[in-house]
Amino acid sequence: MVDKKQLSTNIPKHVAIIMDGNGRWAKKKGLFRAIGHENGTKAVREAVESSAEIGIKHLTLYAFSTENWNRPKLEVDTLMKLLVNSLKKEIKTLQKNNIRLNAIGNLNSLPKKAREELLEVIEKTKANDHMTLTLALSYGSREELIKTIEEISIKVKNGVISPHLINETVINEHLYTKNLPDVDLLIRTSGEQRVSNFLLWQIAYAELYFTEVLWPDFKKSDLIEAIYNYQKRERRFGKTSEQLS
Ligand code: FPP
Repeated sequence: MVDKKQLSTNIPKHVAIIMDGNGRWAKKKGLFRAIGHENGTKAVREAVESSAEIGIKHLTLYAFSTENWNRPKLEVDTLMKLLVNSLKKEIKTLQKNNIRLNAIGNLNSLPKKAREELLEVIEKTKANDHMTLTLALSYGSREELIKTIEEISIKVKNGVISPHLINETVINEHLYTKNLPDVDLLIRTSGEQRVSNFLLWQIAYAELYFTEVLWPDFKKSDLIEAIYNYQKRERRFGKTSEQLS
């Protein structure tokens, strides 16, 4: 049951989701993997609308990893087509719910059509301020860290930054996520208990929540359950319980 009072306080500001299990969902039903991904996009819409309704300020979804390029070409093409179609279709949902679209990852490696559509929706929704939806596309945390180190090294070489002034803030400012707060709650569906190269720096203090639910079956009630579970945890950030109270 949804407890309105409980859902009005201590809402995680930044929720990140590893949407896993589209393939297994399809296999269980004797369907093609593509149908699993198609139903995965329906779950994306429900998660986005529910998050906005609950009052989550930042929702980040792992839509395509750097490693996903190694999947069969047909599957990669299907995922890119789904991305383009969803962007075309869901811009209305984003505007209606006052949601700003953002993207992280090596966007230059996306097919031209997907990149252009993405940039167009980002531009059209840039003034929306109820929630930020970030799609991680061609994203890998290690790639992000390598890019960050490279950019900072060049600045050090050119005398723009002094090495002893490199701190967490400097690193945050060079990550794809530079405009986002740290992740509070990381959810992974489908029973796998891994973080798979997703936001490794940004989840340093995140609460991790794993559910057996396969992504296409992930409903608003599952999101609420994850939040209730998050609310029961004591986030100590290295301090003792006594210090917190
Ligand atoms: C994991 O399922 C999911 C993905 C690789 C991509 C997630 C993509 C979607 C939910 C659809 C498209 C997204 C947008 C934003 C339009 P899997 O294929 O790894 O499942 P499996 O582990 O059961 O094989």
